[in-house]
Amino acid sequence: MNEFKEILRETEISANSTFDVSSIRNDFPILQTLVRGKPLIYLDNAATTQKPQAVIDKITDYYTSGNSNIHRGVHLLSQKATKEYEDSRKTIQQFIGAAHPEEIIFTRGTTESINLIASAWGRQNIGPGDEIIISHMEHHSNIVPWQMLCKEKGAGLRIIPINDDGELIYDEYLRLINEKTKLVSVVHVSNSLGTVNPVKDIIREAHKYNIPVIVDGAQSIQHLEVDVKDLDCDFFAFSGHKIYGPTGIGVLYGKKQFLEEMPPYQGGGDMIASVSFEDTTFNELPYKFEAGTPNIAGAIALAEAVKYLNNIGIARIAKYESGLLDYAIDAIGPVSGIRLIGTARNKSSTCSFVLDGVHPHDIGTMLDVDGIAVRTGHHCTEPVMKRYGVPATTRASIAFYNTKEEINVLVKSIEKVIKMFS
Ligand code: ALA
Repeated sequence: MNEFKEILRETEISANSTFDVSSIRNDFPILQTLVRGKPLIYLDNAATTQKPQAVIDKITDYYTSGNSNIHRGVHLLSQKATKEYEDSRKTIQQFIGAAHPEEIIFTRGTTESINLIASAWGRQNIGPGDEIIISHMEHHSNIVPWQMLCKEKGAGLRIIPINDDGELIYDEYLRLINEKTKLVSVVHVSNSLGTVNPVKDIIREAHKYNIPVIVDGAQSIQHLEVDVKDLDCDFFAFSGHKIYGPTGIGVLYGKKQFLEEMPPYQGGGDMIASVSFEDTTFNELPYKFEAGTPNIAGAIALAEAVKYLNNIGIARIAKYESGLLDYAIDAIGPVSGIRLIGTARNKSSTCSFVLDGVHPHDIGTMLDVDGIAVRTGHHCTEPVMKRYGVPATTRASIAFYNTKEEINVLVKSIEKVIKMFS
């Protein structure tokens, strides 16, 4: 059997092995708590995920016995912290299949990662008349930085439209590409619709014209297997807190050739090779992009979250979540008065809906009384709301620690809301 088939078979075996959700739930202390006197049903995972004990312990251990600044000290604590921070970079590198550890830049999160590219790569490579392609389903963090850059440079933003199901209209994407196109930046999984976009095809098409592609992986990295070499994306961004790690830490992956050519994003300590009042030379990758003392504990705890996920296996997580999402859609969709927003064939994690005559904030407030956490609002995707003619939606977003029983409670609670407002 060839090696590829062997890997596929192993992936299938591991994806099919029993998924012990109650044991997984025990790893997350917050899931054992009560909210408003009811067991917490946490369905706001697209906003942020809960943290396993291993990640919480890692942060406590680091500050209890390992705290020190990195890359600067000859003393033992500094050396140990430096090693752990750099080992964390390698853990992330392996997790996303990057070729080199220095292709992993620690940032504050997806938003900062995209702003870094817009500022460093964008300022250098975008000029008057150039065009940047994004999609209609982008999060504001993949719209506003490009809008700001386009305004500054006299460039244009082109938008791939979406159909009524919330899928990209691929032919329109193909039509948008022309000799003025300098960059494509698309979301892998939509945070408000749940659509999984065909990013591999999008990348392949852009590369025919040597156009680099950024993938916003904020909502995909925790649900799907991501291999940046296989995708062949030029940049990939994600946030630690959405993948069971802490807030304030995130990742920008960039192909070495791009990162090497880009100027620094911020100036300060650690990103320099030497400084005089006349001139400064910059440090090598990845330090060139990590000015100042970074979020050391955050990076180390993010690596711990990745190790925790690896122990369970992303393939098994994806399989379990996909079954649970189907269950949620089948349970919520038929409820009288509900309209699902985002019905793409290929979806992950998110079930957004509106209810005739009831504002999502009222729904969210009433679900909260039953201990159910969902997000209501425009989800930082105002253009998506406009496309569907709604001011906001109610969004239940699942993680691998959620259960069918929780979905059943959610549906009962939605039915209570309907009764109350009818
Ligand atoms: N981007 C996060 C969400 O979708 C905050 O809720």
